Amino acid sequence: MIQVTNLTKWYGLRKAIDGLNFHAKKGEIVGFLGPNGAGKTTTMRILTAYMPPSEGRAIVAGYDVVEESLEVRRRVGYLPETVPLYADMTVLDYLDFMAAMRHLPNADQCVDEAIQRVNLEDRVESYIGNLSKGMRQRVGLAQAVLHKPEVLILDEPTIGLDPAQVVEIRAFIRELGADHTVLLSTHILSEAQQICNRVLIINKGHIVAEDRPENLQARLAGAERITIELAGDTEGAETTIAGVKGVLTVEPMGNGVFEIEITPGKEIRPAIVRALTRAGQDVVEVHSQGVDLEQIFLELTRSDDKSKGKRTSRQQKE
Ligand SMILES: Nc1ncnc2c1ncn2[C@@H]1O[C@H](COP(=O)(O)OP(=O)(O)O)[C@@H](O)[C@H]1O
Ligand SMILES: [Mg+2]
Repeated sequence: MIQVTNLTKWYGLRKAIDGLNFHAKKGEIVGFLGPNGAGKTTTMRILTAYMPPSEGRAIVAGYDVVEESLEVRRRVGYLPETVPLYADMTVLDYLDFMAAMRHLPNADQCVDEAIQRVNLEDRVESYIGNLSKGMRQRVGLAQAVLHKPEVLILDEPTIGLDPAQVVEIRAFIRELGADHTVLLSTHILSEAQQICNRVLIINKGHIVAEDRPENLQARLAGAERITIELAGDTEGAETTIAGVKGVLTVEPMGNGVFEIEITPGKEIRPAIVRALTRAGQDVVEVHSQGVDLEQIFLELTRSDDKSKGKRTSRQQKE
């Protein structure tokens, strides 16, 4: 269980998070979706009792992160943005060391179970420095679940992983969600949609929206962009692209390049290429820019303006 009230953090004169309110229950995977600098890591550091908030309160697993930080740490597993792993330790030595740091009474058993949970049995004798990024992330997760915490806080758990590793880590997180409270951060919309039961959209230290993943798509409509490059004569290409189902807008950028806005989450690139090929166009390149989160957040904050008026209009001037 996580309960956050009016959580605020200043770094000097800079407000990194501003009056956050949210909760997460057991058996729930809550996503923190936001662009770089939104305040995700700051919030997570507070919830794991690594640093205190400037204002507001956070209760994690029933304990106050400031008043009862040791109790909180005992009940929280944390996968930081960059896991401080020791390259010259083996996986087993590292997890034994972490178990000792946590003064776990049944350390050996906890380490064995954690290794099994993240499927690291084959790599226990490997030096961490020799592991792939995906394997190291599993060691980070093993460390996070070592003490069987009630609450798991995972900061951008799939960043830098290859697609196969991403699939595997996401599946593991969903599994953890069954009997933990999980809060994870991501800047990837599709990731939030795939893993989370509920998503909080955070921008510039404010929660600008909260929704179920299946509703995010509609909310964020029009935000996904692809770029297509054609060779030769592009006469008529704009009309051809615009005629493909799922294309929202087409903008010719010159030199045969077109920027296309599509319905998010739909894979329509092949359909666009087919239509263009049929129309006799030569497609040189198709590039997905993904969802333009900055744009979404701007729009969400703007529509917020209308209802909240004064507070956000001041925010816009910054
Ligand atoms: N230790 C720090 N000192 C000063 N400013 C910081 C520090 N850590 C983060 N910030 C600032 O606080 C804001 C939120 O950062 P962060 O929580 O890291 O966001 P996110 O994890 O969503 O990318 C950013 O503007 C960032 O520059
Ligand atoms: Mg971060």
